[in-house]
Amino acid sequence: MLEQIEFTTKNILSKTNNFSPIVGIILGTGLGGLVKEITVEYTLPYEDIPNFPISTVEGHKGKLIFGELGGKKVMAMQGRFHFYEGYTMQEISFPVRVMKALGVKTLCVSNACGGMNPNFEVGELMIINDHINLFLSNPLIGKNEPSLGPRFPDMGETYKKTYVNLAKEIAKENNIKVSEGVYAGLTGPCFETPAEYRWLWRIGADVVGMSTVPEVIVAKHSGIDVFGISIVTDLGVEGSVQTVTHEEVMHIANLQEPKMTLIMKELVKRI
Ligand code: HPA
Repeated sequence: MLEQIEFTTKNILSKTNNFSPIVGIILGTGLGGLVKEITVEYTLPYEDIPNFPISTVEGHKGKLIFGELGGKKVMAMQGRFHFYEGYTMQEISFPVRVMKALGVKTLCVSNACGGMNPNFEVGELMIINDHINLFLSNPLIGKNEPSLGPRFPDMGETYKKTYVNLAKEIAKENNIKVSEGVYAGLTGPCFETPAEYRWLWRIGADVVGMSTVPEVIVAKHSGIDVFGISIVTDLGVEGSVQTVTHEEVMHIANLQEPKMTLIMKELVKRI
């Protein structure tokens, strides 16, 4: 893995005139709009980056963008990789290893998710304060490379508290309603059965989705601080579980995206 990280990093540096980002951004389904706020300097399609997988999902564009956002040098993944596409946990999170090698100190992630918390509404913005890994796998399985991070990383404050509070402050200043809660990550690609939503709520998750956890585990392993934000695109609330389609998920995510973009942009500015 070290050789792959080094090879990919060198390749990117050679194509970006040694651009060194301090913030990494991963944009979820229908949430690529933040890119419009970035003063773009370089765009690399995933297919031109050695060792990068290619995103196969509608709503995920598949480009790595380098530029400036809120006065900071950032790199943004417009489109991410999922376990259900057939990639391994290591492949999904490989871009985060490359981010670290390029100099990233903070990772901002967004996603679309289903909500189990009965207080949530469709379109709700939730700042992630913790996660539950239900992929039944882990990107750190296998030989640990000590230069990348510890064998047994602590996960006590995976989503940095100061970012959670800062995001809530920014939301308040801008009259945006946000909640805070726990994201359960599982493989998909099925949406959940009513019994699964009920179980997820009972074990302490507020929302559920098919991403984020692998990338965040690798960020934490690498010593990168994490900020995460979810948009609730459908509800799996006991007694009123709705039918979910990918089209509806993208539609709601697109509608709510400007609010998420504002919070993320302002947060990047202030960190
Ligand atoms: N479940 C899992 N992933 C999702 C959902 C959901 O209800 N909505 C958007 N992504």
